[in-house]
Amino acid sequence: MYLFHSTREMLIEFLPKNGHLAEIGTAEGDFADHILKTAQPSHLHLIDPWEHQAVDQYKTDSNNVTQEEANRRYESVCNRFKDETDKGVVTIHRNYSTEAVKYFGDQQFDWIYVDGMHTEQAVAEDLRCFAPKVKPGGFICGHDYTNHAAAQRMKFGVIEAVNTFVRETSFEFIALTLEPFPTYVLSAEPNSALCQEFLTYATHGLDIALAIDGFEDKNFSQTMAEFSDGKRKLISKLS
Ligand SMILES: C[S@@+](CC[C@H](N)C(=O)[O-])C[C@H]1O[C@@H](n2cnc3c(N)ncnc32)[C@H](O)[C@@H]1O
Repeated sequence: MYLFHSTREMLIEFLPKNGHLAEIGTAEGDFADHILKTAQPSHLHLIDPWEHQAVDQYKTDSNNVTQEEANRRYESVCNRFKDETDKGVVTIHRNYSTEAVKYFGDQQFDWIYVDGMHTEQAVAEDLRCFAPKVKPGGFICGHDYTNHAAAQRMKFGVIEAVNTFVRETSFEFIALTLEPFPTYVLSAEPNSALCQEFLTYATHGLDIALAIDGFEDKNFSQTMAEFSDGKRKLISKLS
């Protein structure tokens, strides 16, 4: 597994182009827009209920917006991707991931991006439901593998869910971006030509790469250091 000193925007430049893709959790469509421009998918499914959820564990998540705001976001995503939906490149699913998954065939996606509800249970469910929908050798990527104070306030359980998923399935940790809200990349065929190609291009194209064995069994934590000159810096720690 490689820690990449990069952003998710840079990382997806190295994932397969022209693929069949899905983003779970779209919100205002900012990252979906980036995926469209960078990965040039043959088809991109955007899945989000755009619904306020009165769930205890999800109360403090800044993306659990009021129903009025959720409706506004949905309308704005429909407008934003109107050309692509008209052309049949984008399909918008206003639905929960565990419902929407029923509309997809097995081994359909080249890669998916998991960024829906961030509690441990919700991420675990998304990984479990969508893994069979990914082609053999395809990638599962996802956002917010972090536990800094802001993530704890929002009750994120992404680290726990992803680590358990990697321990219990054939998927392995391939890469993680080092940034305030890191993106992870998993593959069930880490030695495939496709995965090796991804790693070669990413390692070549990014500044610093650090290889780590057995990452899912280590403790990864992020904290915000505050300096006397007022500067703040995110510190990532592995122990
Ligand atoms: C962090 S935001 C997504 C941000 C977006 N991926 C981006 O980077 O531009 C999380 C989104 O997940 C959606 N969400 C919550 N529960 C969900 C579920 N069960 N299935 C799919 N999406 C869900 C929320 O409505 C919210 O819009």
